[in-house]
Parts: sequence; structure tokens; C-alpha cells
Amino acid sequence: MHGTIFTLLKRYVQTQYDHSTWIQLLENADLTAADFDHKHVYPDEHLYRLVGEAATMTGLSADELHEKFGEYLVPDLMYMYQKLLRPEWTTLDMLEHTESTMHKQVRQENAGNTPPVLHVTRISPDELFIDYVSARRMSALAVGIVRGVARYYDEAESIEVEPTTSENGEQVRIRVRRIR
Ligand code: HEM
Repeated sequence: MHGTIFTLLKRYVQTQYDHSTWIQLLENADLTAADFDHKHVYPDEHLYRLVGEAATMTGLSADELHEKFGEYLVPDLMYMYQKLLRPEWTTLDMLEHTESTMHKQVRQENAGNTPPVLHVTRISPDELFIDYVSARRMSALAVGIVRGVARYYDEAESIEVEPTTSENGEQVRIRVRRIR
């Protein structure tokens, strides 16, 4: 997984909890490398261990933590890739174009980057399905990111996000709907 995701996880833990929680988390996850940088790709296993330990420490489920973390990631991801965002987009448009713009760019930056494939079907101006496909089985993170995107566009109150298949699969269908 891209170092940016680890760097943001570190910041998430430091801001939601504190620095010593992060150190404790690294220790519990048996990781010595305290720092990650955005130029490298790190083993997915490290992320699973960190989130797994965080779940034990907080009493939240790994899925809940993935969702919260996904929501937290969005402003930074938007900032980093702002050149690819079109000013006329709102939540559903942005989701519709993630695969062909942002994730495409992420894949081109480094052969080791493997963001999930998001097959998006726009059913109407107010509804779409995201078919998430990834061996990482992190669709809970995707659900959190969708919530974060809705918040970014000030649509948190009107956007409904609902996984329609089990959240732990390699393929998960997520329904996103705007209620007017
Ligand atoms: C500004 C928009 C976005 C940017 C810049 C972005 C960027 C990234 C990057 C850099 C990674 C790490 C890839 C790797 O290490 O191989 C990633 C992973 C991921 N992205 Fe995105 N992303 C964006 C939007 C989205 C959206 C809208 C969703 C969900 C609908 C999403 C779902 C995910 C998930 C779930 C992962 C974790 C890896 C996996 O499940 O296989 N991303 N993204």
C-alpha cells in the first residue's frame, strides 16, 4: 500500500487519540519502522496489523475503523490530486470519475500502486452503484471515502451510502443515492 495512506493513518491516530497511542500501536503490531513516506510502497500486511491492533485497543471493529479512516482521508486526497478535479463536479460526479482520473493517475505514478478497481454505473442523476473489486477486501474503507466525499461537497445530509453485498468480499456493490 502507498506510503501516503500510512502517513495519513499515523496522523489520524495522532489527532483522534495521541502520539503515544501511535507508538503503542506500532509496538503492538510488531512494527519497528516508525516512519512511512509517500515515495514508497509498504506491505499491505502492515496496514492490516495496524488496523487490527487499533480495533483491539479501541473496541471498535476493523470495518468501523476503516470507515472512519476512509472519511478522514478525503480532504488530503482531494488536496493532493486537486488538478484532476473538475469545478462542476459534486459527490456523484466525482465518484463516477474516480476510476478514469484519480485512480488512473495513482496507477501511473508507480507500478507498485494498486488502488481498487471501481466500476461505476450511473443509474440516474441521483443514484449510482460502485462495484468495488480488490483482493485487499477494504470496501469498508471505500464506504468511508464515499462519506468523506459527500462531506467534502457539503452533501453529507443528502447522500445515502449502503453496501448491498457483504462488506468483506473481494467484490462489493455499494449503492450511493442522493435524496432531495
Ligand atoms: C481524490 C480521489 C482519490 C484519490 C486521489 C485516491 C487515491 C488512492 C491511493 C493513492 C490509494 C493507495 C493505492 C495503493 O497503495 O496501491 C487508494 C486506495 C484506495 N482507494 Fe482511492 N483515491 C480516491 C478516491 C477513492 C474513492 C472515491 C474510493 C471509493 C469509492 C476509493 C477507494 C479506495 C480504497 C478502498 C483503497 C484501498 C485499497 C484497496 O481497497 O484495494 N478511492 N486510493
